[in-house]
Amino acid sequence: MMDLKILEEEVRKCRKCDLWNKRTNVVFGEGDPFSKIMFIGEAPGYHEDQQGRPFVGAAGKLLTELIESLNLKREDVYIANVLKCRPPNNRDPNSEEIQACSPWLEEQINVINPKIICTLGRYSAYVLLKFPINISSLHGRSYKIGGRIIFLTYHPAAALYHGRILEEIKKDFQELKKIILEITEKDEKREQLSFW
Ligand code: URA
Ligand code: SF4
Repeated sequence: MMDLKILEEEVRKCRKCDLWNKRTNVVFGEGDPFSKIMFIGEAPGYHEDQQGRPFVGAAGKLLTELIESLNLKREDVYIANVLKCRPPNNRDPNSEEIQACSPWLEEQINVINPKIICTLGRYSAYVLLKFPINISSLHGRSYKIGGRIIFLTYHPAAALYHGRILEEIKKDFQELKKIILEITEKDEKREQLSFW
């Protein structure tokens, strides 16, 4: 995927917000660039910054298990974050950082062109929907925007601290699994129709 490589090179040099000078590595994202589904988190944490890969710590382990509950492998999907550099002490992203960095994510989404985007937590939901949401009331819902399905769920890190959220995120993924199945079936029907 040439375009994605070019974009990654650009992001690796980015200094559009103050986070550039504290990073160890830019965390661009990883996975199958042709995947129909993308997962979007918030920002790199300590381990992600050290390794230059998204979701490799404890929250990442849970995310990987949740992806496997969809009968998919981690390598089958694409995983990225709203911010590509780690905020100090894992503090929440601020609005300047989100404004500076989200155009990178938007380009990344356009190149990968997924049918489904699963947002993890409120920051990625905000960037995709363009309005602030209360994730505890809207998780498990999906919106159709620009020809894509935006599916909202909690951030897996929240599920590590609250048993109730863990149960809810697992249920959300069962809902997501149904949506993926529906889309796959529709695609198969469409292919048959165009063949005949
Ligand atoms: N949390 C995130 O939002 N993203 C990561 O990559 C890791 C933890
Ligand atoms: Fe650039 Fe985003 Fe890193 Fe800020 S967080 S320096 S906008 S890549």
